[in-house]
Amino acid sequence: MFSSVKGFLLSFCLLSLSSFAFAKAQPILIQGAMTIETDVLIAKLENKKATTIGAWQFWEGEINGYPVVVSQTEVGYANAAAATTIAIERFKPMLIVNQGTAGGHDKALRRGDIVIAKESVNMGAYQVDYTEKGKGIHPTQWHRLDAPMRLRIDGKEVTFTHFASDNAMVEKALSLASTYPHGQVVSGVIGSADQWNREIDRINWLHETYNTAAEEMETAAVALVAKGYQVPFIGIRVLSNTDLHNEEFLPETATNCQNFVLNFVESVIADQK
Ligand code: 5AD
Repeated sequence: MFSSVKGFLLSFCLLSLSSFAFAKAQPILIQGAMTIETDVLIAKLENKKATTIGAWQFWEGEINGYPVVVSQTEVGYANAAAATTIAIERFKPMLIVNQGTAGGHDKALRRGDIVIAKESVNMGAYQVDYTEKGKGIHPTQWHRLDAPMRLRIDGKEVTFTHFASDNAMVEKALSLASTYPHGQVVSGVIGSADQWNREIDRINWLHETYNTAAEEMETAAVALVAKGYQVPFIGIRVLSNTDLHNEEFLPETATNCQNFVLNFVESVIADQK
């Protein structure tokens, strides 16, 4: 009897210790640019509280008792960088997951497929050689501009050709491929820019030049800020459209992507226990 009381007390202490540790844990930050890319995540949060900082919205809550912050970054590079900087300063996340929709750059991928960003790249930064009036516009001759991929790390300027996502997180996401019923889950390069490209020759040129699997407008901006703060990062994008197969934007893909991301985040949380 005495030992079972002792056992009960011990497990009670351990339990309260672990929930205390959880309460103190650094949150997981999950980002989406648009309402259709955050609604499922926000609905899943328990004990949630909405906060607006500047023009950017955040929802603090819990998933399976673990702290999670959902951020609606809004669309594009500057919004993504601003929302990420605010979130890191305010919430000190242990992991940043940027997720949402994208357009296909790889013929092997169809709408509904998910690309785990093993790398992301700014595909919108160019330097252009001088030409005289009347000599035309030649985007394929433009040179890639490195400076926007440069960061000062430990006092030294480092120019990145791409930003790598956290390797262990990429492996974990890929290991969940069989739980996703709407298409393939593959790893690849995500190209980001404030652009929506629909010219097939341009899409193919971007694919050949940057090795991109898909394009969208936020991942590489978030990855840059995450790298600057040394916060682990992963990008997870669903093809919502691909002109390589005449497949137009389908909003349901954003819901399916969020559900996959929830599976992934629950698996990360399970590892924390
Ligand atoms: N090109 C660029 N951005 C796209 N998005 C979805 N598909 C594409 C595409 N083909 C995403 C961007 C942005 C929003 C407009 O949709 O990341 O947030």
